[in-house]
Parts: sequence; C-alpha cells; structure tokens
Amino acid sequence: MTAVDDQPAARTLRFPPGFRWGTATAAYQIEGGAQEDGRTPSIWDTFSRTPGRVLNGDTGDIAADHLHRMPEDVALMAELGLTDYRFSVSWPRVQPTGRGPAVQRGLDFYRRLTDRLLDAGIRPALTLYHWDLPQELEDAGGWPERETAQRFADYVAVVAEALGDRIPLWTTLNEPWCSAFLGYGSGVHAPGRTDPEAALRAAHHLNLGHGLAVGVLRELLPESAAVSLVLNLAAVRGASDAAADRDAVRRIDALANRIFLDPVFHGSYPRDLLDDTEEVTDWSFVRDGDLAEISRPIDMLGLNYYTPTVVAAAGPGHVPSGTPSPWPAADEAVRFLPAPGPRTAMDWPVDADGLAELLARLRRELPRTPLLITENGAAYHDYADPSGAVRDPERIAYLESHLAAVEQAIASGVDVRGYFLWSLLDNFEWAYGYGRRFGIVHVDFASQRRTLKDSARWYAALIAANRGQVPADGRRSRYRRGR
Ligand code: FCB
Repeated sequence: MTAVDDQPAARTLRFPPGFRWGTATAAYQIEGGAQEDGRTPSIWDTFSRTPGRVLNGDTGDIAADHLHRMPEDVALMAELGLTDYRFSVSWPRVQPTGRGPAVQRGLDFYRRLTDRLLDAGIRPALTLYHWDLPQELEDAGGWPERETAQRFADYVAVVAEALGDRIPLWTTLNEPWCSAFLGYGSGVHAPGRTDPEAALRAAHHLNLGHGLAVGVLRELLPESAAVSLVLNLAAVRGASDAAADRDAVRRIDALANRIFLDPVFHGSYPRDLLDDTEEVTDWSFVRDGDLAEISRPIDMLGLNYYTPTVVAAAGPGHVPSGTPSPWPAADEAVRFLPAPGPRTAMDWPVDADGLAELLARLRRELPRTPLLITENGAAYHDYADPSGAVRDPERIAYLESHLAAVEQAIASGVDVRGYFLWSLLDNFEWAYGYGRRFGIVHVDFASQRRTLKDSARWYAALIAANRGQVPADGRRSRYRRGR
C-alpha cells in the first residue's frame, strides 16, 4: 500500500504549479549519534544533561536515530511525494569545537543525505544553524561575543565548499529570536543564560553572523543557488485598540520582528527598539560597517509560524511574573494574554489567521521578497492504536486550516513559493524532550519503528492532487545529481 492508497482525495486546496511541498527537521532533534565520528558536544548536549532543564531528562543522544536510518527516512519522503526537504547541519559534527578544519566523516553524512535526496528527486534545503552551537564556542562567550559571528562564517565556508554544487537552497539561521531570547534571556533554551543585555548582544551577533554568512555563500556557491534566512515572526495582536495596548504591540513587534527585519532588509535597527532598551544596553556592540554586512540582499525569506501572540499594556497593579523574561525591558510594560481557541499539546492556540496576517504584512513591507513557509505544524499526544494506525484528526485540521490561509494569501498576491511541514518525524522537542510529538510520521523511540500517521497520508494525497497539475518532466530533473 502506498501513502495515498487509503485516503479520500484531499480537499481541493490548490497551489500554483511548481509550489514546493516539503517537510522540515533539525539535526539535534533527529540525528542521534551524539558521540560519533568525532562530534563534540553542542550547547544542547550540555543543556539537556543539566538536571531540570529538559522534561524527563531527555537528551538528543539517540533521538530518532536518523544518522543510521537516513536511507529509510528518505524513502519515506519519496513515498509521501515530497518535492523538497529542509534539514540542518550539525556544526559540532562537521567542525568539532567550532574552529579549524572540517571532519570529513561528519561531512560525509550530509553528502550521502544530499545524494539520496537528489536521487529520489527531492530538493535539499540546507539550514546552517539550527541552534546547536559547539559548546567550546559558548565557553568562549557564545553569541553575545562578536567573535562567534566570525566563527560561524568560517564554518559556513566549510559546508559550502563541501556541498555548494548540489544544494539549491541555503538558510543561514533558523529563528535567531529563539537563539537570542530563549537561550540568553529567559534561559529556557540552551545555553540557559538569563541576562537581558546578553540576549540583545546575541541578537546583533546572530544578525552579523547571518550577514557574514551571506557574503561567504555568495562567494562560494553557484549563482543558481538561493540564500535565505528563517524567522519565527510573531503575529502580535493587541487586547484592544486602546493606545496603551497598541503601544504594547509596538514594543513586542520591535523585539520579536523588527529587530531582525529592519537590519536585514533596511540596514538599520528601529529607533524605538533602541529607546525601549536603553536601560539595558547602549548598543555600542554595533560597530561601523555591521549593518552594511547584515543587509546584504537575500533571495528568499523563510517564515515559521505556529500560533499568534496577544499583548496588553501592563497597567497599574501589574506584577511582573518574576521569572526571567525573553523580552528585555518589556516585562513591566507588557502583559501576555492567552489567545482563545482550541490548543495543541504545546498549549499553543490554533489560529490560522495569524499566518494570514503575517503573510499580508510581508506582502506590504517586502513585496519583492519571495517567501517560503519553512515551518508549520502541531504537536498532539499521538499513539498507535491496537490496529497499528495513528489517528491524528486534530493535526489534519490544523494543517488544512493553515494551508488554506496560504492558498488564500497566494490568491491575494503574496509570493509564497512553498510549504515545509514541521515535522517529518516525531523528535526531540527541545525543552519538552520526547514529550511532544510534531511528526506526521510516528516514531516509537524504543524500537525506532516509523509509522505513517493519518496526517502523513493526508499530506501525501494533497501533494499528489496538486502535483498532478504540473507536467511530470522538467522542473525536478534540473536538481538531479550531476546537474
Ligand atoms: C520551532 C523550531 C523547531 C521546532 C518547532 C516546534 O521554533 O524551529 O525546531 O521545535 O518550533
């Protein structure tokens, strides 16, 4: 039986010919093999080994064992009919300690993965940094240190030299907001620091690392390769239209969105961001020339979206939570409110309008930048029933409503080129360990057995229905090995 055999034809969500149908994953979340081939610890190895940091004390030591099961996983992707696959390279696997020459055995894994994908007619989309900073670089100061941006650029050169001829789409950073503000602000992600100034310094040095990486990629990649950045932009809504609530929206928009969009696309930091945070830092870590570096043109912007953000002015009597905040200088001014609606297992409200709002905004503000949805999906408490099936109707409903928002956005003129569902496999969900399942393929972590969930079959049927519209030749073959 193939993935689509037992599914009713997917509801008629229709996308333009050539639309990219993908799934996304990240190295630390699926690979395992944490100590193999000379890989050294990343900040996530250290963090997950620190008692109390990750639910149930889970680590990525084995994860979904993708390092050893990659051929089987690529075969699953082919069965689903994916046209594209987004994965990340583990920095400490290819350049242990974050400096010096590459480890060929580490790079070989990504060479084999790339070959397999191209042989299966699936375009690889490579993310250079999905949060696994080599621990030695954190020991030297991590992203709050300027030097880390240069180390990142050198690592990017290593990967681009090895794979540059075969990867058509490159992403520098995944969600630098999380790296900066969850890693160094609230401390709920690795490396677990709680220092608002460090978080802002980290944001700037991530931006700088991105810009330096774009420069390196432009030098080393063929012209046909596209370069992108992936942001988890926040769809920020005010609790009311009152001026004070609108100001709360402005503040959070600056710290979540414009802190990346403005330097990357306009070569400056927003004035209001600098003013709002002046008690925390004077921003003297921004040096002459940095903004020119950061604003090098990119070819595409990746958007990760899960749930909206609702804020209100703190108002009199507001008591800040007392726990370290990911929002420097905003804790006393802004309250975060739960959005209404059904929730996923992450307790994240399901609200596809947030995606529509972000896409409409990007069309207004960046009309010439093609967009990709580089992550979207939902966690539910999935299990295999006695017949072996994994029924996940809530996930299908989630995906359908969000894809409908994308379909609608395209119809209204937003240039969205593809959709990468998070995630292919159940995996190590950061601070939640294996306690949250985002996959459309169920993984039994004891046996590593993979089972297609109903949502995987639904997605495969949708892809098949849409790919039926395009000629079977041409487009994909350009990306085959040896092109
Ligand atoms: C995003 C991350 C990704 C995954 C999803 C659920 O913030 O980029 O690795 O954990 O959330």
